Amino acid sequence: MPSTQVAIIGAGPSGLLLGQLLGKAGIHNLILEQRSAEHVLARVRAGILEHGTVQLLDEAGVAERLRAEGLVHDGLYIAFDGQRQHIDLSGLTGGRAVTVYGQTEITRDLMAARAAAGMATHYEAAGVALHDFENGSGKPWLSYLRNGKPEVLQCDYIAGCDGFHGVSRHSVPPEAMKTFERTYPFGWLGVLADTPPVAPELVYAQHPRGFALCSMRSKTRSRCYIQCKLTDSLAQWSDELFWAELRMRLDPVSAAALQPAAAIEKSIAPLRSFVAEPMRFGRLFLAGDAAHIVPPTGAKGLNLAASDVRYLAQGLIEHYREHSSAGLNHYSARALRRVWRAERFSFAMTRLLHSFPDQGSFDHKLQQAELDYLFSSRAAQTALAENYVGLALDA
Ligand code: APR
Ligand code: PHB
Repeated sequence: MPSTQVAIIGAGPSGLLLGQLLGKAGIHNLILEQRSAEHVLARVRAGILEHGTVQLLDEAGVAERLRAEGLVHDGLYIAFDGQRQHIDLSGLTGGRAVTVYGQTEITRDLMAARAAAGMATHYEAAGVALHDFENGSGKPWLSYLRNGKPEVLQCDYIAGCDGFHGVSRHSVPPEAMKTFERTYPFGWLGVLADTPPVAPELVYAQHPRGFALCSMRSKTRSRCYIQCKLTDSLAQWSDELFWAELRMRLDPVSAAALQPAAAIEKSIAPLRSFVAEPMRFGRLFLAGDAAHIVPPTGAKGLNLAASDVRYLAQGLIEHYREHSSAGLNHYSARALRRVWRAERFSFAMTRLLHSFPDQGSFDHKLQQAELDYLFSSRAAQTALAENYVGLALDA
């Protein structure tokens, strides 16, 4: 039977980064991805990287273009009640910043590095199924269809990096896993357009009509979002309507800088908080969106995927080099500690900045007071800043 040391399911950022780190350490791995490479590269996702994520991409040897083209942001803006407050991320955190670099570009860089290293990815692998991974002693294997033909792959470990809808988490017996979930009564309508950003840094806006965010991909390309109803359809949102609604929700300075342009991409995404525990079952390890989802308000999704992968790669490298299972045994607890802190922050940012349709007048007043406090307190701004730039890895 064909075999590898680590079989990775999913060629999103989690699977590709894990494969890259393992490959650099001489650990053989094969990725099975159900979609085509073109499909994976066509997905538009967030792009705010914590300092630790940039460092990890550097260690993986894929940060050259990111260092050259990524935009380093030392701060961000929060807009509320006609005002725009600057949050000095670097000044409040001892010099830490975030880097704006689209996730699609990270995926592209990782794919190129994988191809250059001669590591295999089987794209369009259909019907991937996991076998014999339940107990720690046996050898797990995968079955799948490639070009319509059945294939099998034996391995020492399986890394489930196949996102929220993947097969890995669903292969774990339900009684062996506990899930925690919260859904939100709204979504985000996102538009990508070739128009300069309204400000040199991101603007997160709270407004009675709903949340808005002006982000960017470069100095000439914007990525903007507005809170929308879950029942809204893209057909309801012409480009004109989108920009008009966004403008209404921004502070006057940001609104004046807004230059509407034709949408290159437009999509609606629901918001969700989700965690599955534990993140290990026998010889299967879950990483990234396969194990947890955060609402995008804190820009933590990709960064959490990166820290999972860092811990998992460390555990696997320790296992193969030093014959020690300590890292693998601690993986789930170590990753989950960071996951829950990011869940907390993402939830708090979401609650702070969105309009909740069922919000009573008391909750509304509390939200206003919280923003007022944030605008006037260095301590409150520091708490936001240290979470946004990323908490220390094992603090
Ligand atoms: N078999 C093989 N591959 C699968 C299967 C399956 N049954 N199910 C899903 N996949 C693939 C998807 O097609 C996708 O390419 O797994 C990949 C999972 O990638 P992501 O969803 O990007 O998840 P992850 O790599 O954990 O990335 C986490 O990136 O996706 C964003 O919002 C997410 O920012 C977060 C970060
Ligand atoms: C994005 O650029 O797409 C983006 C930025 C910050 C967020 C969410 C999305 O919080």
